[in-house]
Formats: sequence, C-alpha cells, structure tokens
Amino acid sequence: MALFLTLMIILGLCLISTLAELQRLEHSPNADGSLSFLVVGDWGRKGAHNQSEVAHQMGRVGSKLNINFVISTGDNFYEEGLKGVEDTAFEESFTKIYTDKSLQKQWYSVLGNHDYMGDAEAELSSNLTLKDTRWLCLRSYIVNAKIAEFFFIDTTPFADEYFTIDPSEDQVFDWRGVLPRKNYTSNLLKDVESALRASAAKWKIVIGHHPIRSFGTHGDTQELVEQLLPILQANNVDMYMNGHDHCLMRISSPVSPIQFLTSGAGSEAWICDAVLNRDGVKFHYPGQGFISVEMTQTHAKVVFYDVFGKVLHSWSASKKLLHSSWVSNLLLSCNLTIWLLLLLVDSSNPQPGVLKLLLKSMGL
Ligand SMILES: *[C@@H]1O[C@H](CO)[C@@H](O)[C@H](O)[C@H]1NC(C)=O
Ligand SMILES: *[C@@H]1O[C@H](CO)[C@@H](O)[C@H](O)[C@H]1NC(C)=O
Ligand SMILES: *[C@@H]1O[C@H](CO)[C@@H](O)[C@H](O)[C@H]1NC(C)=O
Ligand SMILES: *[C@@H]1O[C@H](CO)[C@@H](O)[C@H](O)[C@H]1NC(C)=O
Repeated sequence: MALFLTLMIILGLCLISTLAELQRLEHSPNADGSLSFLVVGDWGRKGAHNQSEVAHQMGRVGSKLNINFVISTGDNFYEEGLKGVEDTAFEESFTKIYTDKSLQKQWYSVLGNHDYMGDAEAELSSNLTLKDTRWLCLRSYIVNAKIAEFFFIDTTPFADEYFTIDPSEDQVFDWRGVLPRKNYTSNLLKDVESALRASAAKWKIVIGHHPIRSFGTHGDTQELVEQLLPILQANNVDMYMNGHDHCLMRISSPVSPIQFLTSGAGSEAWICDAVLNRDGVKFHYPGQGFISVEMTQTHAKVVFYDVFGKVLHSWSASKKLLHSSWVSNLLLSCNLTIWLLLLLVDSSNPQPGVLKLLLKSMGL
C-alpha cells in the first residue's frame, strides 16, 4: 500500500512537471551548424521614429549574413499593444515595415509591458500567424537551434511597478493567464531553471523584455536581478538580451561570463546614462539601431548597428571545441597509466621521487 502510494505520488509529480514544462520549438541551423540572427526591440510605431529606416538596415544586414531568424525583445506594438487580432496595427507596424526579402524568416517574439496594455492574448494568438507566417509570440518558450538554445521569458509579470500602478494613471494591463502572479512567476522560474540545467547546448541565450542590467532611463530591473540572475549565472548562460530601455548597450558581469545586451532601439530612442568602463559598461548608444549575432560551435560575434547600418560596436567570444574536457580526461588517464606502470616497474625499489611526480600529475 505504501509502495503504491509512493508510486502514485511520483507519477503525479512527473505529470505536474511535464505539464509545467516550457514549450519547445526546433529551429535547424545552417548545414555547417552555424547560425545568425538579428535582435530588435521596442519597434511597432507604424514606421515612425525611424522604425522604417531601422527595418531597411536590418534587411541589408540580414541579407549580408543570410540570417536564420529574427528575435524581438518585446514592446511590439505601441502604445497599447493590439486591440485584438483584427487590429490593423499588426500589418502597419510589422508586415508592411519589415519587407526585405532577408527578413521573411521566422520571428521569435516576447511580450513587453506595452503589449500587456492591449489585448495580450491577441498577440499570442495563432490567428496572427495566419495573417503573416513569420509571426510567433508566446509567453515563455524554448527554441532549440542545436549549437544554441534560446530561452524566451515573459518578464513583465515580475515587475512590481505594474501591479502597484495608480489607477488614475490610466494604465490597464491584461493579466489574463498571469494571475495569481506569485504562482505564475515562481512556476516560471522553476521551469527556466530546470530547462537550463538540462540544456546541453554550447551557447545558452536568454531573452526577456526587461533588462537585468541597464543604464538607460529604466535601469536595472531589481526583481530580475534578485530572482532570475542567480539562475542564469548558476547555469552558465552566455547572453541575456532585452529591450525596454530604448537604446543599445553591452554590459559585462564581474562574476560570470554573462553579457547583458540591450536592443530596444527599433523606433523611438532615449538617452542613456551609462559611463564607459564603469560598472561593466562596455558600450552604449542612445540612438536607434539593432544587433546581429553570428555563431559557430566555437565563436560568437555580436555587432551593434545604428539607423544608417553603420557598425557602432562589436564583441566576440570563443569557446573550446566540444568534447575538449573529454579529451583532457583521456590525456590525464594516459598520464596516470604511465605513472602507475613506472611505479610497478620501480616497486622492487620504490623511489619517493616517482610517487611525488604521480601525485603532481594528478594535481595533488
Ligand atoms: C532618425 O535618426 C537620425 C540619425 O540618428 C536622427 O538624427 C533623427 O533625430 C531620428 N529621427 C527620429 C524621429 O527619431
Ligand atoms: C481566432 O480565429 C478563430 C476562428 O476565426 C476564432 O474563433 C478565435 O476567436 C480567434 N482568436 C482570437 C484570439 O481572436
Ligand atoms: C499554482 O501553481 C500550482 C503548480 O503549478 C498549481 O497546481 C496551482 O493550481 C496554482 N494555483 C493557482 C491558484 O492557480
Ligand atoms: C600529462 O603529463 C605531462 C607531462 O608531465 C603534462 O605536461 C600534462 O599536462 C599532463 N596532462 C594532463 C591532462 O594531465
């Protein structure tokens, strides 16, 4: 009976955990395993505030790099998301703006706080994909592209400010599917943590609308610094990409290799108070633009562009080849075998020097 109960509980836990898992999508990389994509955020203004100019340059760079897809960091439709699936802002701000041939690829989007001010479920609806097959927006999900895994996270429900807003400010959020909020965020964190822990991808990239670190007008999102960042650092995440602050920025971390990349300059741009080389700030730009990323198993290159397509900044990272730890383990065990053989040969007349060398080669 006890055994039966235990089995039922384990089965129940398994069911809960599979139900809670983040949705997974697959995106094949190029034949040689490489991958390239663009990242843009905070854009939908029917072409205004240089949105069309940025879109034009994205097309040019997208074609040069032969990109695989585009990532949107949210705030897809201003000022208040979409009114419904029939809202023509969808065509006016998306379909009719990103027209270049190279941008006719899959777009992977998250919701921003402005998207939550409209009919959030309309943006998530597959009805939009029927209108424009490039469109895909889910709350939180994973895209597996073999050499890299992308973890898209719905960050708006984490920020206290939207839940304590003064009703006289006339900001109404569509929290359908989010409440109770603490349940939503704690379940999401658990799912992200277990998915990151299970990931064997060479590169792990996390995307959310709100910055973790930023020196733009909005600045750091303290809730994410406290709740999300420790999970990303414990699981060797390479990059966190966000929008929300309407500028371009790269910030590094003193305690982990993670790079904080802000790409929230798809239309209206803002000032940014960053000071180079202070608090990890490596680059900042207060105008419009976007980011491109190219990756192979061993290298990643991130480039920031302005509204004229001019390269403002670029940053590269490299990793050892896959299996390098496996190779060094093999070498180590070869070394150990040699030393053991030497010890055996010497066993009639043990020499302390050999023992010392053996211990040294084991790193002791
Ligand atoms: C468009 O970009 C140019 C170049 O950065 C800038 O001078 C201009 O103010 C921008 N226009 C708007 C409406 O933001
Ligand atoms: C999507 O389209 C279907 C069929 O026309 C409709 O029943 C459904 O309500 C639509 N979804 C939304 C979110 O409007
Ligand atoms: C909170 O989350 C748990 C675990 O996913 C779920 O079983 C429970 O029904 C949720 N509670 C509410 C009130 O939605
Ligand atoms: C094996 O031994 C050589 C020579 O002592 C040393 O240089 C090398 O680092 C060792 N390799 C490993 C994997 O321990």
